[in-house]
Amino acid sequence: MPSLNDIRSTFLDYFRRNGHQVVDSSPLVPRNDPTLMFTNSGMVQFKNLFTGVERRDYVRATTAQKCVRAGGKHNDLDNVGYTARHHTFFEMLGNFSFGDYFKSDAIPFAWELLTKDFAIPKDKLLVTVYHTDDEAAGIWKKVAGLPDERIIRIPTDDNFWRMGPTGPCGPCTEIFFDHGDHIWGGPPGSKDEDGDRFIEIWNLVFMQNEQMPDGSLRVLDMQSIDTGMGLERIGALLQGKHDNYDTDLMRSLIEASANATSTDPDGPGKVHHRVIADHLRSTSFLIADGVMPSNEGRGYVLRRIMRRAMPMPTSWARRTR
Ligand code: SER
Repeated sequence: MPSLNDIRSTFLDYFRRNGHQVVDSSPLVPRNDPTLMFTNSGMVQFKNLFTGVERRDYVRATTAQKCVRAGGKHNDLDNVGYTARHHTFFEMLGNFSFGDYFKSDAIPFAWELLTKDFAIPKDKLLVTVYHTDDEAAGIWKKVAGLPDERIIRIPTDDNFWRMGPTGPCGPCTEIFFDHGDHIWGGPPGSKDEDGDRFIEIWNLVFMQNEQMPDGSLRVLDMQSIDTGMGLERIGALLQGKHDNYDTDLMRSLIEASANATSTDPDGPGKVHHRVIADHLRSTSFLIADGVMPSNEGRGYVLRRIMRRAMPMPTSWARRTR
């Protein structure tokens, strides 16, 4: 069974072999973007490359990016512990093209990695495309041989990715894994899509627009690629689990929490151990990246996360609320 560390290496090595520069994760506090509270996706450190404001000596990159989604547009804080797949801190695996390759290479790259290197059975995979994106649908049909009913057209913002109120954006295609009909849930776009049967594993964004402060959409000079796959989620799939918190990395934290409190990791305190495992990661990485608990902004979000995870005397809790 591959560990999460093995899976991260397989992803980065695959894209390195395919001409991508392996770039370090950027800090959780975006260096280049005062509009964003935390780095919430792999593309954040590359934002200015998509818009053409900045150039680097590579046009293809791959990263395992540390992300926090606990404030702003992408905020998962209240779901953590209760669901199988929400985290405040997670790692996003991604490959990027800055005006180099576009849809006709991004889709085959993703398909090959999933079905060959990760050996996921082809008949378990299905995709969504933005409803007007005939080109992406055609590439999926050609490259993956997917029948029309497994290329689902979505007319909503679910298939038009935006980092926030402004910034680079574009239509996207999402790859889903079907866990089988013994699990409740419907395909994307159906009324039962929130069930657990069909799980999104990878989002490929075709960066071609910029959302401007006045609400208009500018067409970017370059066509670029931004993809994101949650390590914890693909890890669960490749480890044969249905819950991210059952993967090797999360499980070791849950067991540490249970040992420290002499309780059963799967007993009545199960949700608490999961919250602690998640929040331990976000608080540690946020503090390591220079955020300190405070009464406003990033520091306040950190304080909220800490307060949810830490037992504290009632009197003190009342004072800090
Ligand atoms: N930016 C996209 C996302 O966060 C793909 O990386 O899903």
